[in-house]
Amino acid sequence: MGLIIVANWKMHKTTGETADFCRSILKDEKQFGEVEVLICPPYTSLTTASGILNGSTLNLGAQDLHWKQEGAFTGEISGSMLRDLGVEYVIVGHSERRHVMGEANARIRDKVKAALESGLKPILCVGETEAEREAGSTNSVIKEQLLAALEGLGTGEMKSLVIAYEPVWAIGTGKAAQPADADSACSFIRQVLQDEGGSETAGKIPIQYGGSVKEGNIGSFVEFDSIQGALVGGASLQADSFSALIQAARKAVQS
Ligand code: PGA
Repeated sequence: MGLIIVANWKMHKTTGETADFCRSILKDEKQFGEVEVLICPPYTSLTTASGILNGSTLNLGAQDLHWKQEGAFTGEISGSMLRDLGVEYVIVGHSERRHVMGEANARIRDKVKAALESGLKPILCVGETEAEREAGSTNSVIKEQLLAALEGLGTGEMKSLVIAYEPVWAIGTGKAAQPADADSACSFIRQVLQDEGGSETAGKIPIQYGGSVKEGNIGSFVEFDSIQGALVGGASLQADSFSALIQAARKAVQS
């Protein structure tokens, strides 16, 4: 399985800034080789990004979606609306949605289902808080989040997923997980996927690490067989340094 590196811009960039970034990163497209690169701008920049990335090898993702396809949900955006803009992936259950917006496991399961029904590939985020890690409950928290989100999915649907292991305490703090701890969590995730869907299915699901990933540390994560890429926040906002991060990941798996 190849690497997939995702830029999660969160609430950053106007349409003009999006256009500048996309034009700039496309200049390095050939350097990314077999690494799949995915840009997740805010909703308001999806059309701009889609227009510029269209025809390139870079793909487009959204950061969230609503769990219904349409209805009286003021301010919300559905999976079918995202598909209409050429979006292929959608982040679901990011820790900022779980912990800042209060999304519970059941809601995240509904969003995973809605994404799949719309033809979007969900990037399902799981991960423990600092207190949960200190209490020794990392694996049980991850397992609970995974099983809740996978409930009712067939193996065909499971194969469309990407899983991002993102320890909450490592996100936006500059304090990345120890690569060996990320390896252990990602291997555990693979085991849960195997138990749920069998090894053939589990073998098709990329598992990423996320949390303070940058050019200087990406190699130490992706060199583990258990980790097939990264979900990158802060270090994805500048085209030249994000390009360098992607190239560093590529080099680490080649060597
Ligand atoms: P960070 O964010 O790279 O800024 O830590 C990662 C994420 O939230 O996906």
